[in-house]
Amino acid sequence: MRKLRSICLPALAGMAVLTLLHHAAAQQPGPDLSWAFAVAGKDAPPEPDAKEVVKLPPSARTYTREQIDDLSNPPDWYPNEHPPAPAAVIGAPGRKAVACGSCHLMTGSGHPGSAGLDGYPAEYIERQMAYFRDDTRKGIRMNAIAKTVTPQEDRDAAAYFAALKPQAFTKVIETDMVPETYVNRVRERFVKEGGRMEPIGNRIITVPQDKEREDARDPHSGYIAYVPKGSIGKGEALVKTGGNGKSIQCEICHGAELKGLGEVPRLAGLHPIYVARQLYDIKRGESNGKAMQLMKRVVANLSDDDILNISAYVASLKP
Ligand code: HEC
Ligand code: HEC
Repeated sequence: MRKLRSICLPALAGMAVLTLLHHAAAQQPGPDLSWAFAVAGKDAPPEPDAKEVVKLPPSARTYTREQIDDLSNPPDWYPNEHPPAPAAVIGAPGRKAVACGSCHLMTGSGHPGSAGLDGYPAEYIERQMAYFRDDTRKGIRMNAIAKTVTPQEDRDAAAYFAALKPQAFTKVIETDMVPETYVNRVRERFVKEGGRMEPIGNRIITVPQDKEREDARDPHSGYIAYVPKGSIGKGEALVKTGGNGKSIQCEICHGAELKGLGEVPRLAGLHPIYVARQLYDIKRGESNGKAMQLMKRVVANLSDDDILNISAYVASLKP
């Protein structure tokens, strides 16, 4: 069993340093992208007791914090709300590899630090796993994970997530001011105690609607994404027109209302900071799979503001 707190902390710290170095290099010169590529902050409050028992009514189940954070054996708060899940997604006795359901949740809605997979095309998911495995796509955490699962497990997981109904998980709100926030050990952002506010600047700030439930990996508990005033409208114009040849109209490949087309995934309703990470990764060649080459021309001339505006707009659409 892999216990996050006891074993992975040195690895996480190492990854945080690597990520920082990586982004320091990738950002020359450029803005602070820590809103999209969040790294654990020093200002996070102490973690709750690992033995604490967590209940989330109306779920009849209880788990300790330690069980909730056991990535090989994720909590399944609402077993009647999803089809039977394969071992790759929900874990199995004696299976050591991490299970997809822990970070992507059993509903596939995912956390902003990971990604939504609900209703995603199975072929697309399998393809990304192959890219992560051979490092043609470099992403947070997934390269190591893909190397611990087999192509058959990719197929099982992909079929499971593809069959799920995509859910609206994030409410997007335009604003000038946001609550002060911190980033915890697993790169999730939370509102700080004390109610202080700060200017949003050129950032998207996503926080859970209910911290306790989010921390417990409750798939009923969604997010609020604060985005700068005017960003949704600017994103919409660029997505719909391609911006006078700057980019290409997204609907051509991502389908009507950006709900997906064949093997090309939906963009509607995705976690906005995930979309931003992908657009940056595609632009700088970190997400470089064969099928992703179709995206090269789309992102080549996008500015930082364009990426933020597009991410705000697509996240605001109904999936
Ligand atoms: C420890 C947490 C964790 C686990 C467990 C995990 N993932 Fe991920 N996954 C992530 C993160 C983080 C990202 C986002 C990567 C990025 O932004 O670079 C991600 C992204 C992905 C993506 C890319 C999504 C997209 O829209 O392109 C796929 C596909 C994926 N994961 C599949 C899986 C599968 C299948 C499993 C189970 C075998 C799994 N993941 C298990 C953390 C996890
Ligand atoms: C010419 C076709 C084409 C156009 C136009 C296009 N895309 Fe894509 N896009 C793709 C394909 C194909 C993929 C998936 C590649 C793969 O399967 O690896 C993709 C993937 C993506 C992803 C990654 C999805 C994920 O879950 O990680 C994002 C984000 C994205 N596109 C955003 C956009 C936006 C925003 C626009 C418009 C500004 C756009 N795309 C226009 C073809 C296109």
